[in-house]
Amino acid sequence: MDFFVVVSRRRSVRAFKSKSVEVDKLRRILDAINQAPSAGNLQAYEVYLIREARLRTALMKAAADQEFLAQAPLVLVFCTHGKRAEERYSQRGVELYALQDATIACTHAMLAATALGLASVWVGKFDEQAVREVVGVPQGQRPVAILPIGYAAESPRAPKRRELSELIHEVK
Ligand SMILES: Cc1cc2nc3c(=O)[nH]c(=O)nc-3n(C[C@H](O)[C@H](O)[C@H](O)COP(=O)(O)O)c2cc1C
Repeated sequence: MDFFVVVSRRRSVRAFKSKSVEVDKLRRILDAINQAPSAGNLQAYEVYLIREARLRTALMKAAADQEFLAQAPLVLVFCTHGKRAEERYSQRGVELYALQDATIACTHAMLAATALGLASVWVGKFDEQAVREVVGVPQGQRPVAILPIGYAAESPRAPKRRELSELIHEVK
């Protein structure tokens, strides 16, 4: 799929079919994550892959009962791993670059999923401690985004965006 078609087709989908994600599609999503840029190429993040229904339900509870988390057959949890960036970039690496690395990686996963005919929604509303416990996130890592992925069971309309003229500020 053309990149610009992928960008315009991607929507936040909050209802999924039970059909699982094929192994080759999953592999392509994971490869797309691994191709994401990162500060100093240090890849200061970790990704946890969850398929078990019991764990997806626990994640749903940790994320304000957003039901689609239990519905989607596959959930990725993106965590910062500040230590990987600390030696070269000190606090800026831990606080900023690791967060940017993790969220760019999540964006790659979203777009890859769309390109493969799958759907996703970025989930930021969750109880961090509860997610830590469900996933078993080690100390030094911080869950920052959850991405359920699967086949869409709804086709949401594109929500309105700000006008470019309001959003983009040319500095002369
Ligand atoms: C940082 C971030 C956090 C978000 N958290 C949630 C969330 O917890 N639950 C949810 O349903 N959607 C969440 N979204 C999805 C947004 O609501 C969605 O991207 C926005 O409404 C625009 O719609 P679109 O993605 O279809 O373009 C989040 C998106 C981002 C980028």
